[in-house]
Amino acid sequence: MDAFNLLKADHRKVEELFSQLESASGQAKMRVFEQIKMELELHTHIEEKIFYPALEKPKQTHDLTLEAYEEHDVVKKLLGEMSKAKSATEEWQAQAKVLQENVEHHVEEEENELFEKAEAALSEEQIEALGEQMEAEKERKQRSATKSSSKKKSANKSASKSKSASTAQKRTRASKKSGSKSSSKSSGTKRSKKSGKKSRR
Ligand SMILES: [Fe+2]
Repeated sequence: MDAFNLLKADHRKVEELFSQLESASGQAKMRVFEQIKMELELHTHIEEKIFYPALEKPKQTHDLTLEAYEEHDVVKKLLGEMSKAKSATEEWQAQAKVLQENVEHHVEEEENELFEKAEAALSEEQIEALGEQMEAEKERKQRSATKSSSKKKSANKSASKSKSASTAQKRTRASKKSGSKSSSKSSGTKRSKKSGKKSRR
């Protein structure tokens, strides 16, 4: 996917989420906001890391790119403020409106001005390559986000897991032992039978 189509797809996704935010109420509103925040953070990250640096140098896109960085900062500050809230108060909803207006303005400027100028400043190959790089970075970020969020859960489970794993190991060892020495009546078989019983507790 080329850079423009990738970013446009992100824009449409966020627009859809903003319309969901308007119709949602109570805690559902907060959950939609969390999704918007995640999408915008991912989107601004790939733009700032890959797309904007490529557009900073060409004369045609230089000024608009610097403006875009500033607009991102405003959006990030608002996201930070809003994420402190526990419920959608009137003030929070006013901030949500300002956030939406800022994002809409930024999207409009990107799609109607920046992309057009970028198309003139960069080659088709560059635009395609930027799209691929942003796609890869997005996947990498999403993977690391999923990892860190599941880290806590797995840490909580690890104690009980390791216990059951060792029990399972004991069981396997015991059954192997008793299986290979099934005909003998040595003390080893007795021991393995014993440990087998123990592990079944
Ligand atoms: Fe942007």
